[in-house]
This record gives sequence, C-alpha cells and structure tokens, in this order.
Amino acid sequence: MLEGKSVNLRKASIDDVSLIVKWWADQQYMGDYQEIVVLSKEEIEKIMLHHTIFFIIEKSQAAVGHINGWMRGRTIEIGFALVPNERAKGLGTEAIQMMLDHLFITKDSARIQVSTDVRNIASQRALEKAGFRREGTMRRSGYVRGQYRDRYLYSVIREEWKKPRILTDITG
Ligand SMILES: CC(C)(COP(=O)(O)OP(=O)(O)OC[C@H]1O[C@@H](n2cnc3c(N)ncnc32)[C@H](O)[C@@H]1OP(=O)(O)O)[C@@H](O)C(=O)NCCC(=O)NCCS
Repeated sequence: MLEGKSVNLRKASIDDVSLIVKWWADQQYMGDYQEIVVLSKEEIEKIMLHHTIFFIIEKSQAAVGHINGWMRGRTIEIGFALVPNERAKGLGTEAIQMMLDHLFITKDSARIQVSTDVRNIASQRALEKAGFRREGTMRRSGYVRGQYRDRYLYSVIREEWKKPRILTDITG
C-alpha cells in the first residue's frame, strides 16, 4: 500500500477485476474524452495482474479510481481515472504524483509519459501540477465517439523528477 495524504494506492488484486470491468465499460467513469473499454474478466485480469502496474486509488478505504502503468522499453506510460463524484478535489493530482514517485523509485525507467485529449483540461492541469511537461501534439491519435481527436503528449524524465514529492516509505 502506498500511503498519501488524501488517497492511498493499493495494488490491484483478483478481487478488483469485476470493478475494473464495470468501470472501463462505463462512459461516466471514463469521462468525456476517452472511449469506453469493453473487455471480459479474463482480459482485464491479464491487463491488471500481468501486463501493467495497476493500483486502485482508495479514499477512506473506498475504491475511488485506478491508475496503471505499462512498460515500453525504458518508458512507462500511465493511465488513470476517478469516479465522477471524487473529481476536482485534488485526488487525481495526488495519485499521479504518488505513481511518479513509485515508478521512478522502484523501476529502472528513464521516462514516464501519458497522452491526453487536447480538450481534457482537468487531466492536463493535474499532469502539469504533478510535474509533467507537454512535449507536443499527437495529431489525430485519438478516436472518440466516431471522431478523430488530437492528443497532447506529456512526460517527466528521471533528471527532472529528482526526489519523491509524496512517498517517503516505499513498501509497495
Ligand atoms: C483527469 C482526472 C483524473 C483529474 O483528476 P482530478 O482529481 O479531477 O483533478 P484535480 O482535482 O487534481 O485537479 C487538477 C487541476 O485541474 C483542474 N480541474 C479539475 N477538474 C476540472 C474541470 N472539469 N475543468 C477544468 N479544470 C479542472 C483543477 O482545478 C486543478 O487545477 P488548479 O489547481 O489549477 O485549480 C479526473 O478528472 C478524471 O477522472 N477524469 C475522467 C477520466 C480521464 O479523463 N482520465 C484521464 C485520461 S488521460
């Protein structure tokens, strides 16, 4: 368990599979700028437990979102979302900062990256507050509800990260 100020990041387990199946297939949860992801329990289980570094974001022990990361060589890409009634309270920024600390401390990664729809201001602000820099525009790299959308690419490289901002005790 990674302990933050307002949220904790708990490593996802088999018991969380049904919740993620439900969340990812829910447009309210995925928000206005991402397609829903409809997958079977078996497919989600593979992603959650084998192919990504997957945390459930908890507030007062209740699951309020997820944040995950997947390796591409020495780069780790991340994704995240919160349930609608827990947004815009600073929790997303904190979860992203904790994930950054965790990944740079525990993985030999050179860079953490994320892309987000150019219209997704909440995501962009949360990323910028967590220390990400916008690198450029990935033209037409998103396809949301029948429309191609441009996405911004953000990153933090290890030299910029320097030291943990939230996590002091890494027990995983
Ligand atoms: C993206 C998301 C995780 C951000 O987390 P959050 O907890 O809502 O964001 P925070 O409360 O930490 O806010 C970060 C900044 O964004 C701003 N913000 C939050 N919601 C906003 C909104 N709807 N519109 C504009 N700005 C917004 C906040 O004011 C804050 O900036 P400030 O400190 O300058 O005021 C969350 O909004 C979410 O789950 N969205 C749906 C899923 C999604 O889009 N995931 C990201 C895919 S790349």
